[in-house]
Amino acid sequence: SRLVIEECLVGPEISAFYLCDGERAVALSTAQDHKRIFDDDRGPNTGGMGAFSPSSLMTPALADFALTRVVEPVLRGMQAAGEPYIGFLYVSLMLTDAGPMVIEFNVRFGDPEAQVVLPRIDGAFARTLMAAATGRLSDASLPVSTDCCVGVVLASRGYPASAESGQPIDGLTEAAAREGAVVFHAGTRQDDGRIVTAGGRVLTVVGRGVDFETAMDAAYGAVDVIHFDGMQYRRDIGRKALLQPGRARCHRANFFADSSADSDGVRLGRAGDARRGRSIDRTLRELGDDGGVGAS
Ligand code: GLY
Repeated sequence: SRLVIEECLVGPEISAFYLCDGERAVALSTAQDHKRIFDDDRGPNTGGMGAFSPSSLMTPALADFALTRVVEPVLRGMQAAGEPYIGFLYVSLMLTDAGPMVIEFNVRFGDPEAQVVLPRIDGAFARTLMAAATGRLSDASLPVSTDCCVGVVLASRGYPASAESGQPIDGLTEAAAREGAVVFHAGTRQDDGRIVTAGGRVLTVVGRGVDFETAMDAAYGAVDVIHFDGMQYRRDIGRKALLQPGRARCHRANFFADSSADSDGVRLGRAGDARRGRSIDRTLRELGDDGGVGAS
């Protein structure tokens, strides 16, 4: 009885993460996920086959837009509704020819984005979480490293349609001991003293470095020493970061939001004035893209 027509949004997608205390938000960092199973964004969608952080597409102007036109109005709206929002707000922005649009909100961290954002947080994270939980984010500060992280998901044979389990995993200790590498477990379990696969996305292997080349080398160097039967992964995680405009290193960023600023409310969908028909480059230029990285 009801027909819903949705606009198909086309453009690169950025995940931006904020920690909220009910009134204020602190921007943690940004990342870009790789949803398709195969290299060059081909094949079926998955939960995410890898990510990198920060995204050079998040310029200072876009960061300001996301904070003042998206996040702060959400906090004010939730407060006005008597449900102040405390926790992580994950804003997925699509940079379309018509301008940046919110494609979704999640009230959690991202997977695999968390694995590439968390290693870059230099400050006392637990203390900042406590400050958010107790409405005291204005007193907190959370430095984010200028380093880059690249995370490669190792998945089981058959994923995403199905997932094989119970395959012994070799090389975990060697991988984790490599310079700049961290191995996060997702679909694993212990079986008779051995770590075996237990699901579709098994591990995220993260490499950290002063630039994306170093981070990719660290990640893929660690991937090379891990093995389980049926292991599949993408070979191009991080490549986009090398090709995107403004690939310069991230700046140290430490943003705080004051939700008392005026705003005309959240607009889901097209953001700001109509920019239909203009190129993404032009839209970014209009937003003040200076080739640097803003809300890292
Ligand atoms: N990486 C997508 C998500 O966590 O929803």
